[in-house]
Amino acid sequence: MKEEKKTYTQAPLPFMGQKRRWNQEFKRILKTEFTDCNTFVDLFGGSGLLSHFTKSVRPDAKVVYNDYDNYSSRIAAIPTTNALLGELRDIMDGYPENKRIVNPYLGRVLETIEMYERQGFVDYITLSASILFSGKYATSFEELKKNGLYNTIKQSDYSADHYLDGLVVIHEDYREVFRQWEKKDGVCFLIDPPYLSTQSCTYANYWRLRDYLDVLHTLNGTNYFYFTSEKSSIVELCDWLDKEYKKGNPFEGATRIEQRSNLNYNAGYTDIMLYKHIKP
Ligand SMILES: C[S@@+](CC[C@H](N)C(=O)[O-])C[C@H]1O[C@@H](n2cnc3c(N)ncnc32)[C@H](O)[C@@H]1O
Repeated sequence: MKEEKKTYTQAPLPFMGQKRRWNQEFKRILKTEFTDCNTFVDLFGGSGLLSHFTKSVRPDAKVVYNDYDNYSSRIAAIPTTNALLGELRDIMDGYPENKRIVNPYLGRVLETIEMYERQGFVDYITLSASILFSGKYATSFEELKKNGLYNTIKQSDYSADHYLDGLVVIHEDYREVFRQWEKKDGVCFLIDPPYLSTQSCTYANYWRLRDYLDVLHTLNGTNYFYFTSEKSSIVELCDWLDKEYKKGNPFEGATRIEQRSNLNYNAGYTDIMLYKHIKP
């Protein structure tokens, strides 16, 4: 019997900055625009979610997922991660949920994680979502140990079956990937650079304003989707420079779509997606 293809609406393992909120809008535009493009290059692939969305809408196209953070190695380690979480669940059986883990449980939890560490790879980001306070991440055993641990262990296994199916997975600096594809016909770039904020702490590098501005070179004469948030103020800065100095706006001709998220009554943020399709 033919296996049903699963379309994910979010990344299968925790990843900060994944574009799950753009699932519908992004796919809607992909279905109607960019139909002459046969290659989509996800320069800042992160969790690969945009690549996955793209492949689900355009199975005919080549989709290049630039996995700079090696998220795919976390996916490959899911059986080990599930086994580790299973052992932690057994240790914590009967312990009150959401409560800080204290000794002797704490010692046993840490010993078990250390044993997995000695045996090979531990996906600390995924583990963090199960035993650190909401939103906190550690990337090593040393970092994890410094935090208070909580009994918020995920009760079901992770799975990422078929998530990467059909994608061309590479691991390079975005400039190198861009250089390889910029002159080719029928290419659309997916451009979702790191945020200019402390949020990027789980990513491989820290980004300064200059790095962020350099990415704007990838908008020059290309088909693209570009993702940002009003917090980064990059679009506002470009508008201002254009008005003041008349040097041209890198986003000229792009269509802008916004999504507002309300965290509570008076706080929230706006995510921005800009796209430009150069008609053939
Ligand atoms: C906002 S995230 C992308 C999120 C992704 N679109 C998703 O849906 O999961 C930005 C990603 O760019 C990666 N990155 C940082 N420096 C990079 C570089 N020089 N080249 C390519 N990717 C880089 C970060 O590590 C991070 O994974």
